[in-house]
Amino acid sequence: MWPIFRTVVGRGDAYVFAADTPREDAREYFLGVGVASFVAEIDGAIVGFYKLIANQRDRGSHVANASFMVDPTQRGKGIGRQLALHCLAEARERGYVAMQFNFVVASNQPAVRLWKNLGFAIVGTLPKVFRHRDLGDVDAYVMYREL
Ligand SMILES: CC(C)(COP(=O)(O)OP(=O)(O)OC[C@H]1O[C@@H](n2cnc3c(N)ncnc32)[C@H](O)[C@@H]1OP(=O)(O)O)[C@@H](O)C(=O)NCCC(=O)NCCS
Repeated sequence: MWPIFRTVVGRGDAYVFAADTPREDAREYFLGVGVASFVAEIDGAIVGFYKLIANQRDRGSHVANASFMVDPTQRGKGIGRQLALHCLAEARERGYVAMQFNFVVASNQPAVRLWKNLGFAIVGTLPKVFRHRDLGDVDAYVMYREL
């Protein structure tokens, strides 16, 4: 998972993590206490993964939150979609009633398109909250769907 994490954050176009985020921080984010993570494998090699957590504690804990990363060399093959479908089913199984993404970078076309196609709506736009490596400060969306 670490090489994929490092490559994804190194691009500076989808996650707030800096390119030099320590491995321990990545581990905490994806494998910390209370985090459920799942990987996609091809021939035993990890090609993508996601984490599923409660979006908030206690009175906000009926809504799920998730984060996804697919190996850039394996994109466009449906791995992201498969992970997302698994994630939605897993969240339902765990009793969550909705899923919320808090920070979808507006210029991240593959992600925005995938989430829209899977029934997520943009319910809010946060102006210029993401410092994109190449594009400067860009918007991020809050995206939401019921389960
Ligand atoms: C978003 C991400 C998980 C998608 O993974 P993937 O394996 O490439 O996705 P898929 O092959 O299943 O394609 C999913 C959708 O994205 C679209 N897509 C894929 N590559 C695309 C591209 N370069 N431009 C526009 N759309 C693209 C496809 O049309 C597909 O839509 P559909 O299945 O509804 O027709 C992957 O790009 C990624 O890891 N990005 C970096 C991290 C990230 O952005 N995570 C999400 C943060 S909110």
